[in-house]
Amino acid sequence: MKFRSVRQGDMPGVDAIIVPLFEDRIIPKALDSRVRAVVERISREAEVSRLYAVSAHHGEGPRIVVVGAGKRTEFDAQRALRIASAGVKSLWRSRTKRLALVVDSGAGLDAAHAARAAVEGVLFAMWRPEAHRTKDEDRRLPPLEAVLLAVDGDAKEAIRRGEAVGEAVNVARRHANEPANKMTPTALAAEAKRIAADAGVDCEILDAAKCRALGMHSFLSVAQGSHEPPQFIVMRHAGRGGKGYDAAFVGKGITFDSGGISIKPAEAMHRMKADMTGAAAVIAAVAALGKLRTRSNVIAVAPCTENLPGGGATKPGDVFTSMSGKTVEVINTDAEGRLVLVDGITYVQREGARRVVDVATLTGAIAVALGRHFSGLFGKPEGFVEEVAAAARAAGDRVWPMPLTDEYREEIRSDIADIANSAGRDGGAINAAAFLDAAVEDGTQWAHLDIAGTYWADLERPYTPKGPQGPAVRTLIELGERLARA
Ligand code: BES
Ligand code: MN
Ligand code: ZN
Repeated sequence: MKFRSVRQGDMPGVDAIIVPLFEDRIIPKALDSRVRAVVERISREAEVSRLYAVSAHHGEGPRIVVVGAGKRTEFDAQRALRIASAGVKSLWRSRTKRLALVVDSGAGLDAAHAARAAVEGVLFAMWRPEAHRTKDEDRRLPPLEAVLLAVDGDAKEAIRRGEAVGEAVNVARRHANEPANKMTPTALAAEAKRIAADAGVDCEILDAAKCRALGMHSFLSVAQGSHEPPQFIVMRHAGRGGKGYDAAFVGKGITFDSGGISIKPAEAMHRMKADMTGAAAVIAAVAALGKLRTRSNVIAVAPCTENLPGGGATKPGDVFTSMSGKTVEVINTDAEGRLVLVDGITYVQREGARRVVDVATLTGAIAVALGRHFSGLFGKPEGFVEEVAAAARAAGDRVWPMPLTDEYREEIRSDIADIANSAGRDGGAINAAAFLDAAVEDGTQWAHLDIAGTYWADLERPYTPKGPQGPAVRTLIELGERLARA
């Protein structure tokens, strides 16, 4: 699929045109008069303030797809992505080969950023979760060959970035979507190697013996109950050369979370194949930075393992020493994410990183607090947390700040060791963040994204399929780009 920018009104030989229509009903002036006529007719008939697509066939001309774009004052990167995605989704089962997309702008987003988000949205809509269906017609996407973006000004750079970012989100979604029997820690490590080689990024895999030598007993404790060997993935992007890292990404890589001895109920347990969505996000993001040749140095790590019950599994009450030297009492073997993450956070600090962002499907409690549309954002100092929030906003990921103070840090004290991995139900997402904080050294800026509410959609929506959503990928890429400019 090839993206190209054209001037508005200059869209020859296309099969379909997607036009966003804001509540003010102002249609881009340069639009062809026949197209304007159809849009006006549709917009009189349809409720266009909401995000959905109405399509009309106009004699021998192209199919016109009008997508409600809401209020211009609310227009942002996420809305722009959804408009494009909803438009393309309405073309499923059509034979659209050449598509034009009218890129409008609004209060919160200029034309270049809108174009970038539109490219991301087209790619987002061209990914489907039915990877293991044997019949093709169950996932029939339009055979898109060319996508023309009708946009003011030159959008070459916006297209280049939109393609890299949109593809990265889809890579993360594909990995999260794969069942746990196929996406084992070993398979994910092999994927990371392949993707890294393709992106010009360095990739090193630490096996159990290496992790043991480094003292990662907290991470390794989670792997004890599984026959699958754990893999600690390390990727390095040296975009500016020189020493040190501008940022470190740490992703939770539990390829299946049964809960371990503190086993989960059967209902929805199959969804825990995607408990490596954080790992998928950091792998895809650092690879995109490599492809884009972003001038920052970034290290990304993903401690990967299954969490299963077995003869060798951790028992509630067991104590382990983490790589930081702190001892951990495992109260609940289902609170395994924090156990693998602390060793990841310590590892990147030993490598010299002083800005750390971790991404994890960490707690069901974050979905209780924020629902399914915002990821929880924690960290310190406040200035850094705000930097991450700003990157998320610009990138189109939705995050919401959560508190983290000393009272929560007190709640994770253990009776017999330094810290305990569970502290009851109240404020569960915050207690988990407090546990991670115990591995953050003085002088390290740290942010934590709990994506357990946002990683998966249970409903098919006009702009997104039921399935993996690929949160945080765009935020991490944006952050890597911002640090290159800093
Ligand atoms: N992977 C889960 C969290 C999760 C739940 C992610 C639902 C996505 C959807 C995590 O490992 C977990 O089990 N957390 C426990 C923590 C508790 C035992 C302290 C939880 O949220 O119940
Ligand atoms: Mn768990
Ligand atoms: Zn988990």
